[in-house]
Amino acid sequence: MEFQKLIESRRSVRKYTAEGRPTREQIGELIAAAQEAPSWKNSQTARFYCLVSEDICNKLREECLPGFNRERAENAVLIVTTFVHTRAGFDKEGNPDNEVGNGWGFYDLGLNNEILVLKAAELGLGTLIMGIRDGEKIRGLLDIPESETVVSVIAVGAPDEQPIRPKRRALEDVAKFF
Ligand SMILES: Cc1cc2nc3c(=O)[nH]c(=O)nc-3n(C[C@H](O)[C@H](O)[C@H](O)COP(=O)(O)O)c2cc1C
Repeated sequence: MEFQKLIESRRSVRKYTAEGRPTREQIGELIAAAQEAPSWKNSQTARFYCLVSEDICNKLREECLPGFNRERAENAVLIVTTFVHTRAGFDKEGNPDNEVGNGWGFYDLGLNNEILVLKAAELGLGTLIMGIRDGEKIRGLLDIPESETVVSVIAVGAPDEQPIRPKRRALEDVAKFF
């Protein structure tokens, strides 16, 4: 798909069909695309916990998501994204390179995840990035090491709605030119 069309057509999807659940191979394809993202000194600190089986998805939805996100993610495969902290933005001794510190890890993960959701849109899959989730419960459920910061849960599935595009701010509201 032409890039401009792709970025305009991607939407946060909050209803998925039971049929057409993404396969393990498709999820692998999304992550391979996401891995093409730039990262701090090529540190590649993004990590993915891919919940493909229905049982584990239901368990995470029940135990780690609030009701509204639990419903929205029904029938979707779930990807928990984390990053290895105190690496991107830090030198070999573990000292921050500047004031942003672990913000660079979040930055890198965001770049990475944007490619993931765009790749999904290209494959005809819908996605929903969820920031409202219980990170510590997710850590326990998936045995995520303390060296990683749990960030988002991304639902990926066959869309059962066509959301309208929420308005974007005008260029002059967000950009200053010098
Ligand atoms: C970091 C982040 C966290 C989000 N968390 C949630 C969430 O918990 N639940 C939800 O329904 N949408 C969530 N969203 C989706 C946003 O509401 C959505 O991206 C925004 O309204 C713009 O709509 P669009 O993605 O269709 O362009 C999140 C998006 C981002 C980037």
